[in-house]
Amino acid sequence: MKLVFATNNVHKLSEVRQILGERFDVVGLKDIGCYEDIPETSDTLEGNALQKARYVKEHYGLDCFADDTGLEVAALGGAPGVHTARYAELAAQSLDSGERFTPSQLSHDSNANMALLLHNLEKKSDRSARFRTVIALIYQGEEHLFEGVCEGEILCERHGSEGFGYDPVFRPTGYDRCFAQMSAAEKNAISHRGRATQKLVQFLQTL
Ligand code: IMP
Repeated sequence: MKLVFATNNVHKLSEVRQILGERFDVVGLKDIGCYEDIPETSDTLEGNALQKARYVKEHYGLDCFADDTGLEVAALGGAPGVHTARYAELAAQSLDSGERFTPSQLSHDSNANMALLLHNLEKKSDRSARFRTVIALIYQGEEHLFEGVCEGEILCERHGSEGFGYDPVFRPTGYDRCFAQMSAAEKNAISHRGRATQKLVQFLQTL
């Protein structure tokens, strides 16, 4: 079954392919010739995931799923949440003066994002956090949403070299290693995206 995953992130594509298995031919945006920057302007994960899936359906006529993930940190009132990818960029934009980076330099910059997160948690005793993924699927004209959550905490410093994004500072509950110290298979089994994808798979298997 051919399905478009509305992403250009090679890490996410390979994670999802691993979870979905051979029955599904998952292709990314580049594979369908989509090089546009799909708008993500909602203030919720659900809204952004739906927005991306609807864009592909409307412009390319293909069944599609899209995801959006947020890191929700309790001591920061749920931030960075829907702004997780652009956490440092948005913070830099709100600085009054003395900016050392242009927004485009910080866009999706994991190092800058983690540095800001660690800084903002320096004086906080509660370091609990969770990753939340929402997947929106458009299949045969119907829209479906699937959610996956991974509870954990933010470490005081970075560890490991696997994965991407905030993996070096996120340790899932019940584990003594962070995501960046786990194999892809180990992470997929417990991750937010893994759990949301499992729900997507269970649904697809009922079709
Ligand atoms: P996206 O919606 O999947 O693009 O995720 C938004 C941002 O959350 C990404 O740019 C990453 O910084 C972060 N993120 C998402 N998933 C993960 C993960 O599995 N590990 C670490 N960071 C992640």
